[in-house]
Amino acid sequence: MLLQILLGGTPRAIRAPTATVSKTPRRDGARTARRMNDLFLRACRRETTERTPVWMMRQAGRYMPEYRALREKRTLIELCKTPELACEVTLQPIRAFQMDAAILFADILLPLEPMGAPFSFEKGEGPVVHSPVRTRAQVDALRVIEPEELGYVLQAIRLLKKELNVPLIGFAGAPFTLASYLIEGGKSAHYDQMKRIMYGDPDLWHALMGKLAEVVRKYLHAQIEAGADAVQLFDSWVGQLSPRDYVEYVAPHVSHILKSVEATGVPVLHFGTGTALLLKQQREAGGTVLGLDWRTPLAWGWEQIGHDRGVQGNLDPTVLFAPKEVAVAHAKRVLDEAAGRPGHIFNLGHGILPGTPVDTVRAVVETVKEYSARS
Ligand code: CP3
Repeated sequence: MLLQILLGGTPRAIRAPTATVSKTPRRDGARTARRMNDLFLRACRRETTERTPVWMMRQAGRYMPEYRALREKRTLIELCKTPELACEVTLQPIRAFQMDAAILFADILLPLEPMGAPFSFEKGEGPVVHSPVRTRAQVDALRVIEPEELGYVLQAIRLLKKELNVPLIGFAGAPFTLASYLIEGGKSAHYDQMKRIMYGDPDLWHALMGKLAEVVRKYLHAQIEAGADAVQLFDSWVGQLSPRDYVEYVAPHVSHILKSVEATGVPVLHFGTGTALLLKQQREAGGTVLGLDWRTPLAWGWEQIGHDRGVQGNLDPTVLFAPKEVAVAHAKRVLDEAAGRPGHIFNLGHGILPGTPVDTVRAVVETVKEYSARS
Protein backbone atom coordinates (compact mmCIF):
# COMPACT_ATOMS: atom_id res chain seq x y z
CA MET A 1 0.00 0.00 0.00
CA LEU A 2 1.42 3.32 -1.11
CA LEU A 3 0.56 5.04 2.15
CA GLN A 4 2.62 2.54 4.11
CA ILE A 5 5.55 2.86 1.75
CA LEU A 6 5.44 6.65 2.04
CA LEU A 7 5.23 6.60 5.78
CA GLY A 8 7.23 3.53 6.58
CA GLY A 9 4.55 2.12 8.82
CA THR A 10 0.94 1.08 9.14
CA PRO A 11 -1.46 3.82 10.11
CA ARG A 12 -2.95 3.01 13.50
CA ALA A 13 -6.64 2.27 13.51
CA ILE A 14 -8.71 5.13 14.77
CA ARG A 15 -11.13 4.22 17.46
CA ALA A 16 -13.17 6.92 19.09
CA PRO A 17 -14.29 5.98 22.60
CA THR A 18 -17.94 6.91 22.05
CA ALA A 19 -18.39 5.11 18.73
CA THR A 20 -21.97 4.36 17.85
CA VAL A 21 -23.32 2.61 14.80
CA SER A 22 -24.37 5.12 12.18
CA LYS A 23 -27.35 4.17 10.13
CA THR A 24 -26.57 6.82 7.56
CA PRO A 25 -26.11 5.02 4.24
CA ARG A 26 -22.87 5.79 2.45
CA ARG A 27 -23.25 7.63 -0.79
CA ASP A 28 -20.32 5.94 -2.51
CA GLY A 29 -22.21 2.72 -3.00
CA ALA A 30 -20.65 0.76 -0.12
CA ARG A 31 -23.26 -1.53 1.37
CA THR A 32 -21.94 -2.31 4.80
CA ALA A 33 -22.84 -0.08 7.74
CA ARG A 34 -19.62 1.28 9.28
CA ARG A 35 -18.98 1.77 12.94
CA MET A 36 -18.91 5.51 13.11
CA ASN A 37 -18.78 8.05 15.88
CA ASP A 38 -21.49 10.28 14.46
CA LEU A 39 -21.85 12.72 17.39
CA PHE A 40 -20.81 15.58 15.13
CA LEU A 41 -23.47 14.82 12.51
CA ARG A 42 -26.17 14.39 15.12
CA ALA A 43 -25.22 17.72 16.70
CA CYS A 44 -25.38 19.38 13.25
CA ARG A 45 -28.97 18.15 13.05
CA ARG A 46 -29.59 19.50 16.57
CA GLU A 47 -30.32 16.08 17.98
CA THR A 48 -29.66 15.55 21.68
CA THR A 49 -26.21 13.99 22.04
CA GLU A 50 -24.52 12.31 24.99
CA ARG A 51 -21.86 15.03 24.96
CA THR A 52 -20.72 17.99 22.85
CA PRO A 53 -18.66 17.03 19.78
CA VAL A 54 -15.31 18.76 19.31
CA TRP A 55 -12.95 19.45 16.42
CA MET A 56 -10.70 22.41 15.63
CA MET A 57 -10.47 24.43 12.45
CA ARG A 58 -7.06 23.95 10.79
CA GLN A 59 -6.54 20.99 13.12
CA ALA A 60 -4.06 19.44 10.68
CA GLY A 61 -1.00 21.63 10.30
CA ARG A 62 2.20 23.20 11.44
CA TYR A 63 1.62 23.04 15.21
CA MET A 64 1.83 19.22 14.95
CA PRO A 65 5.29 17.62 14.85
CA GLU A 66 3.89 14.79 12.68
CA TYR A 67 2.81 17.36 10.08
CA ARG A 68 6.11 19.23 10.15
CA ALA A 69 7.97 15.96 9.59
CA LEU A 70 5.99 15.24 6.40
CA ARG A 71 6.06 18.85 5.26
CA GLU A 72 9.85 19.16 5.65
CA LYS A 73 10.51 17.48 2.31
CA ARG A 74 7.44 18.68 0.39
CA THR A 75 5.55 21.85 -0.37
CA LEU A 76 2.04 22.40 0.89
CA ILE A 77 0.74 22.03 -2.66
CA GLU A 78 2.56 18.70 -3.07
CA LEU A 79 0.88 17.44 0.09
CA CYS A 80 -2.51 18.54 -1.22
CA LYS A 81 -1.96 17.01 -4.66
CA THR A 82 -0.86 13.60 -3.36
CA PRO A 83 -4.07 11.92 -2.11
CA GLU A 84 -2.19 9.41 0.11
CA LEU A 85 -0.35 12.24 1.86
CA ALA A 86 -3.42 14.47 2.15
CA CYS A 87 -5.16 11.47 3.66
CA GLU A 88 -2.35 10.87 6.16
CA VAL A 89 -2.24 14.53 7.25
CA THR A 90 -6.02 14.56 7.71
CA LEU A 91 -5.72 11.54 10.02
CA GLN A 92 -2.94 12.97 12.20
CA PRO A 93 -5.13 15.08 14.54
CA ILE A 94 -7.73 12.30 14.73
CA ARG A 95 -5.08 9.91 16.03
CA ALA A 96 -3.42 12.44 18.28
CA PHE A 97 -6.54 13.95 19.92
CA GLN A 98 -9.52 11.75 18.98
CA MET A 99 -11.35 14.69 17.45
CA ASP A 100 -15.01 13.98 16.65
CA ALA A 101 -14.67 15.05 13.00
CA ALA A 102 -11.90 15.12 10.42
CA ILE A 103 -11.43 17.99 7.98
CA LEU A 104 -10.03 17.12 4.61
CA PHE A 105 -6.48 18.36 4.11
CA ALA A 106 -6.61 20.76 1.18
CA ASP A 107 -6.70 24.55 0.77
CA ILE A 108 -9.45 26.97 -0.19
CA LEU A 109 -7.24 28.38 -2.96
CA LEU A 110 -6.79 25.13 -4.92
CA PRO A 111 -9.57 25.87 -7.48
CA LEU A 112 -7.90 29.14 -8.49
CA GLU A 113 -5.09 27.50 -10.46
CA PRO A 114 -7.29 25.54 -12.90
CA MET A 115 -9.59 28.57 -13.16
CA GLY A 116 -6.60 30.39 -14.65
CA ALA A 117 -5.16 32.26 -11.66
CA PRO A 118 -1.99 30.47 -10.56
CA PHE A 119 -0.61 31.24 -7.09
CA SER A 120 2.14 30.13 -4.76
CA PHE A 121 2.79 30.21 -1.03
CA GLU A 122 5.71 32.53 -0.34
CA LYS A 123 7.57 32.18 2.94
CA GLY A 124 6.43 34.83 5.42
CA GLU A 125 3.93 36.30 2.97
CA GLY A 126 1.29 33.62 2.65
CA PRO A 127 -0.52 33.04 -0.65
CA VAL A 128 0.48 35.18 -3.65
CA VAL A 129 -1.67 35.21 -6.81
CA HIS A 130 0.75 35.82 -9.67
CA SER A 131 -1.51 38.12 -11.75
CA PRO A 132 -4.18 39.72 -9.56
CA VAL A 133 -7.55 39.74 -11.34
CA ARG A 134 -8.78 43.33 -11.71
CA THR A 135 -10.09 43.88 -15.25
CA ARG A 136 -13.11 42.77 -17.26
CA ALA A 137 -10.86 40.81 -19.64
CA GLN A 138 -9.28 38.95 -16.71
CA VAL A 139 -12.64 38.08 -15.16
CA ASP A 140 -13.98 36.89 -18.53
CA ALA A 141 -10.91 34.70 -18.98
CA LEU A 142 -11.48 32.81 -15.69
CA ARG A 143 -12.81 29.33 -16.34
CA VAL A 144 -15.79 27.82 -14.53
CA ILE A 145 -14.02 24.52 -13.94
CA GLU A 146 -15.47 21.06 -13.51
CA PRO A 147 -14.71 19.54 -10.07
CA GLU A 148 -12.93 16.62 -11.75
CA GLU A 149 -10.12 19.06 -12.50
CA LEU A 150 -9.48 18.86 -8.75
CA GLY A 151 -9.65 15.07 -8.92
CA TYR A 152 -6.82 14.68 -6.38
CA VAL A 153 -9.06 16.25 -3.70
CA LEU A 154 -11.92 13.90 -4.57
CA GLN A 155 -9.53 10.94 -4.51
CA ALA A 156 -8.27 11.96 -1.03
CA ILE A 157 -11.89 11.95 0.17
CA ARG A 158 -12.43 8.43 -1.21
CA LEU A 159 -9.28 7.18 0.52
CA LEU A 160 -10.23 8.84 3.79
CA LYS A 161 -13.65 7.25 3.83
CA LYS A 162 -11.93 3.86 4.04
CA GLU A 163 -9.82 4.90 7.03
CA LEU A 164 -12.06 7.06 9.18
CA ASN A 165 -14.63 6.23 11.79
CA VAL A 166 -15.50 9.86 12.44
CA PRO A 167 -17.34 12.08 9.93
CA LEU A 168 -15.30 13.75 7.21
CA ILE A 169 -15.82 17.47 6.55
CA GLY A 170 -15.17 18.70 3.02
CA PHE A 171 -14.81 22.43 2.42
CA ALA A 172 -14.39 25.33 0.05
CA GLY A 173 -13.69 29.04 0.29
CA ALA A 174 -16.67 31.38 -0.09
CA PRO A 175 -16.73 33.76 -3.07
CA PHE A 176 -15.89 36.92 -1.06
CA THR A 177 -12.89 35.31 0.63
CA LEU A 178 -11.63 33.77 -2.63
CA ALA A 179 -12.17 37.08 -4.45
CA SER A 180 -10.09 38.83 -1.79
CA TYR A 181 -7.06 36.72 -2.73
CA LEU A 182 -7.78 36.94 -6.47
CA ILE A 183 -8.14 40.72 -6.56
CA GLU A 184 -5.68 41.80 -3.87
CA GLY A 185 -3.14 39.18 -4.95
CA GLY A 186 -2.67 37.95 -1.38
CA LYS A 187 -3.61 38.84 2.15
CA SER A 188 -4.78 42.40 2.56
CA ALA A 189 -5.13 44.98 5.31
CA HIS A 190 -7.84 47.19 3.81
CA TYR A 191 -9.23 45.29 0.81
CA ASP A 192 -9.02 48.55 -1.12
CA GLN A 193 -8.57 47.05 -4.60
CA MET A 194 -11.40 44.68 -3.96
CA LYS A 195 -13.77 47.35 -2.71
CA ARG A 196 -12.79 49.66 -5.54
CA ILE A 197 -14.32 47.09 -7.89
CA MET A 198 -17.18 46.12 -5.58
CA TYR A 199 -18.41 49.72 -5.15
CA GLY A 200 -17.16 51.16 -8.44
CA ASP A 201 -18.02 48.44 -10.95
CA PRO A 202 -20.78 46.27 -9.48
CA ASP A 203 -21.34 44.48 -12.80
CA LEU A 204 -17.75 43.30 -12.88
CA TRP A 205 -17.94 42.40 -9.19
CA HIS A 206 -21.06 40.26 -9.66
CA ALA A 207 -19.58 38.62 -12.77
CA LEU A 208 -16.56 37.51 -10.72
CA MET A 209 -18.58 36.48 -7.66
CA GLY A 210 -21.01 34.56 -9.89
CA LYS A 211 -18.21 32.54 -11.47
CA LEU A 212 -16.64 31.76 -8.10
CA ALA A 213 -20.01 30.76 -6.63
CA GLU A 214 -20.70 28.32 -9.45
CA VAL A 215 -17.25 26.73 -9.16
CA VAL A 216 -17.67 26.35 -5.39
CA ARG A 217 -21.22 25.00 -5.67
CA LYS A 218 -20.16 22.24 -8.07
CA TYR A 219 -16.99 21.51 -6.11
CA LEU A 220 -18.92 21.01 -2.84
CA HIS A 221 -21.44 18.75 -4.58
CA ALA A 222 -18.55 16.67 -5.97
CA GLN A 223 -16.99 16.39 -2.50
CA ILE A 224 -20.30 15.12 -1.13
CA GLU A 225 -20.58 12.62 -3.96
CA ALA A 226 -17.05 11.42 -3.21
CA GLY A 227 -18.07 10.78 0.41
CA ALA A 228 -17.81 13.97 2.50
CA ASP A 229 -20.30 13.69 5.39
CA ALA A 230 -20.59 17.46 5.85
CA VAL A 231 -19.12 20.53 4.15
CA GLN A 232 -17.92 23.86 5.47
CA LEU A 233 -17.92 27.13 3.57
CA PHE A 234 -15.04 29.34 4.78
CA ASP A 235 -15.94 33.01 4.42
CA SER A 236 -13.03 33.98 6.63
CA TRP A 237 -12.78 37.66 5.69
CA VAL A 238 -16.41 38.63 5.07
CA GLY A 239 -16.56 40.42 8.43
CA GLN A 240 -15.03 43.33 6.48
CA LEU A 241 -18.50 44.28 5.26
CA SER A 242 -21.47 46.06 6.78
CA PRO A 243 -24.75 44.13 6.89
CA ARG A 244 -26.10 46.31 4.08
CA ASP A 245 -23.15 45.65 1.80
CA TYR A 246 -23.18 41.95 2.68
CA VAL A 247 -26.78 41.69 1.50
CA GLU A 248 -26.08 43.58 -1.71
CA TYR A 249 -22.71 42.22 -2.77
CA VAL A 250 -22.30 38.80 -1.15
CA ALA A 251 -25.50 37.15 0.08
CA PRO A 252 -26.94 36.22 -3.37
CA HIS A 253 -23.76 34.33 -4.24
CA VAL A 254 -23.43 32.54 -0.90
CA SER A 255 -27.08 31.65 -1.06
CA HIS A 256 -26.66 30.24 -4.61
CA ILE A 257 -24.13 27.81 -3.15
CA LEU A 258 -25.70 26.98 0.18
CA LYS A 259 -29.32 26.48 -0.87
CA SER A 260 -28.15 24.07 -3.58
CA VAL A 261 -25.79 22.12 -1.32
CA GLU A 262 -28.26 22.00 1.58
CA ALA A 263 -30.76 20.29 -0.72
CA THR A 264 -28.54 17.17 -0.57
CA GLY A 265 -29.41 16.80 3.13
CA VAL A 266 -25.74 16.86 4.13
CA PRO A 267 -25.00 19.36 6.96
CA VAL A 268 -23.48 22.63 5.78
CA LEU A 269 -21.33 24.74 8.12
CA HIS A 270 -21.24 28.44 7.26
CA PHE A 271 -18.21 30.14 8.79
CA GLY A 272 -16.83 33.67 8.96
CA THR A 273 -14.92 35.89 11.38
CA GLY A 274 -15.76 39.38 12.61
CA THR A 275 -19.37 38.59 11.74
CA ALA A 276 -21.22 39.54 14.94
CA LEU A 277 -23.28 42.07 12.99
CA LEU A 278 -23.79 39.79 9.98
CA LEU A 279 -25.15 36.69 11.70
CA LYS A 280 -28.78 37.27 10.75
CA GLN A 281 -27.87 37.94 7.14
CA GLN A 282 -25.56 34.92 7.03
CA ARG A 283 -28.32 32.76 8.45
CA GLU A 284 -30.64 33.97 5.70
CA ALA A 285 -27.98 33.11 3.10
CA GLY A 286 -27.95 29.54 4.46
CA GLY A 287 -26.21 26.91 6.55
CA THR A 288 -27.25 24.12 8.89
CA VAL A 289 -24.69 25.38 11.41
CA LEU A 290 -23.29 28.92 11.67
CA GLY A 291 -19.78 29.70 12.88
CA LEU A 292 -19.20 32.08 15.80
CA ASP A 293 -15.79 33.63 16.27
CA TRP A 294 -14.45 34.46 19.75
CA ARG A 295 -15.57 38.09 19.71
CA THR A 296 -19.19 37.06 19.62
CA PRO A 297 -20.61 35.91 22.98
CA LEU A 298 -21.94 32.46 22.16
CA ALA A 299 -25.34 32.78 23.84
CA TRP A 300 -25.97 36.20 22.27
CA GLY A 301 -24.79 35.05 18.84
CA TRP A 302 -27.04 32.00 18.93
CA GLU A 303 -30.01 34.27 19.79
CA GLN A 304 -29.24 36.38 16.73
CA ILE A 305 -29.05 33.32 14.49
CA GLY A 306 -32.05 31.60 16.04
CA HIS A 307 -32.09 28.32 17.91
CA ASP A 308 -33.44 26.48 14.87
CA ARG A 309 -29.84 26.39 13.56
CA GLY A 310 -26.73 24.89 15.11
CA VAL A 311 -23.65 26.90 16.08
CA GLN A 312 -19.95 26.09 15.96
CA GLY A 313 -17.29 27.84 18.02
CA ASN A 314 -16.11 29.86 19.80
CA LEU A 315 -12.90 29.54 21.82
CA ASP A 316 -10.28 32.20 21.09
CA PRO A 317 -7.43 30.31 19.35
CA THR A 318 -4.84 32.44 21.18
CA VAL A 319 -6.17 31.21 24.55
CA LEU A 320 -4.36 27.96 23.73
CA PHE A 321 -1.07 29.81 24.28
CA ALA A 322 -1.98 30.60 27.91
CA PRO A 323 -1.26 28.09 30.70
CA LYS A 324 -3.24 24.89 30.23
CA GLU A 325 -5.55 25.54 33.21
CA VAL A 326 -6.51 28.92 31.75
CA ALA A 327 -7.32 27.42 28.34
CA VAL A 328 -9.36 24.69 30.00
CA ALA A 329 -11.30 27.29 32.06
CA HIS A 330 -12.12 29.21 28.87
CA ALA A 331 -13.30 26.02 27.18
CA LYS A 332 -15.63 25.35 30.11
CA ARG A 333 -16.97 28.88 29.85
CA VAL A 334 -17.84 28.30 26.16
CA LEU A 335 -19.68 25.11 27.14
CA ASP A 336 -21.50 26.93 29.96
CA GLU A 337 -22.70 29.54 27.48
CA ALA A 338 -24.02 26.85 25.15
CA ALA A 339 -25.85 25.44 28.19
CA GLY A 340 -26.15 21.94 26.75
CA ARG A 341 -28.58 23.14 24.09
CA PRO A 342 -28.69 20.66 21.18
CA GLY A 343 -26.80 21.90 18.14
CA HIS A 344 -23.53 23.16 19.64
CA ILE A 345 -20.30 21.94 18.09
CA PHE A 346 -17.27 22.93 20.13
CA ASN A 347 -14.53 24.53 18.02
CA LEU A 348 -12.19 27.48 18.00
CA GLY A 349 -13.45 30.85 16.81
CA HIS A 350 -10.89 30.69 13.96
CA GLY A 351 -8.13 28.32 12.86
CA ILE A 352 -5.55 26.93 15.24
CA LEU A 353 -2.29 28.89 15.02
CA PRO A 354 1.22 27.61 14.32
CA GLY A 355 3.12 27.21 17.59
CA THR A 356 0.05 26.17 19.59
CA PRO A 357 1.17 23.76 22.34
CA VAL A 358 -0.03 20.26 21.52
CA ASP A 359 -0.60 19.39 25.20
CA THR A 360 -3.01 22.27 25.59
CA VAL A 361 -4.98 21.13 22.54
CA ARG A 362 -5.20 17.68 24.09
CA ALA A 363 -6.28 19.08 27.46
CA VAL A 364 -9.02 21.19 25.88
CA VAL A 365 -10.37 18.30 23.82
CA GLU A 366 -10.43 16.04 26.88
CA THR A 367 -12.10 18.75 28.95
CA VAL A 368 -14.84 19.26 26.36
CA LYS A 369 -15.54 15.55 26.28
CA GLU A 370 -15.69 15.16 30.06
CA TYR A 371 -17.29 18.44 31.07
CA SER A 372 -20.07 18.24 28.48
CA ALA A 373 -20.94 14.58 29.18
CA ARG A 374 -24.64 14.28 29.87
CA SER A 375 -25.91 11.37 31.90
O1 CP3 B 1 -6.83 21.03 9.27
C1 CP3 B 1 -7.14 21.79 8.36
O2 CP3 B 1 -8.07 22.60 8.49
C2 CP3 B 1 -6.34 21.69 7.12
C3 CP3 B 1 -6.88 22.06 5.84
C4 CP3 B 1 -6.86 23.56 5.50
C5 CP3 B 1 -5.74 24.30 5.02
N1 CP3 B 1 -6.16 25.55 4.65
C6 CP3 B 1 -4.35 23.82 4.88
C7 CP3 B 1 -3.27 24.83 4.99
C8 CP3 B 1 -7.96 24.41 5.49
C9 CP3 B 1 -9.39 24.15 5.97
C10 CP3 B 1 -7.50 25.66 4.94
C11 CP3 B 1 -8.42 26.78 4.73
C12 CP3 B 1 -7.87 28.08 4.34
N2 CP3 B 1 -6.79 28.37 3.55
C13 CP3 B 1 -8.48 29.31 4.69
C14 CP3 B 1 -9.77 29.46 5.45
C15 CP3 B 1 -9.57 29.13 6.88
C16 CP3 B 1 -9.17 30.25 7.77
O3 CP3 B 1 -8.28 30.01 8.57
O4 CP3 B 1 -9.76 31.32 7.69
C17 CP3 B 1 -7.69 30.35 4.14
C18 CP3 B 1 -7.96 31.83 4.29
C19 CP3 B 1 -6.64 29.74 3.41
C20 CP3 B 1 -5.58 30.40 2.58
C21 CP3 B 1 -4.28 30.12 3.21
N3 CP3 B 1 -3.62 28.92 3.09
C22 CP3 B 1 -3.51 30.97 4.04
C23 CP3 B 1 -3.87 32.39 4.42
C24 CP3 B 1 -2.39 30.24 4.44
C25 CP3 B 1 -1.31 30.68 5.39
C26 CP3 B 1 -0.03 30.95 4.74
C27 CP3 B 1 1.12 31.02 5.75
O5 CP3 B 1 2.23 30.85 5.29
O6 CP3 B 1 0.87 31.21 6.94
C28 CP3 B 1 -2.47 28.97 3.84
C29 CP3 B 1 -1.49 27.88 3.97
C30 CP3 B 1 -2.00 26.63 4.59
N4 CP3 B 1 -3.13 25.97 4.24
C31 CP3 B 1 -1.36 25.92 5.61
C32 CP3 B 1 -2.14 24.78 5.86
C33 CP3 B 1 -1.89 23.66 6.86
C34 CP3 B 1 -0.04 26.35 6.26
C35 CP3 B 1 0.91 25.23 6.47
C36 CP3 B 1 2.09 25.08 5.58
O7 CP3 B 1 2.59 26.02 4.93
O8 CP3 B 1 2.57 23.94 5.60
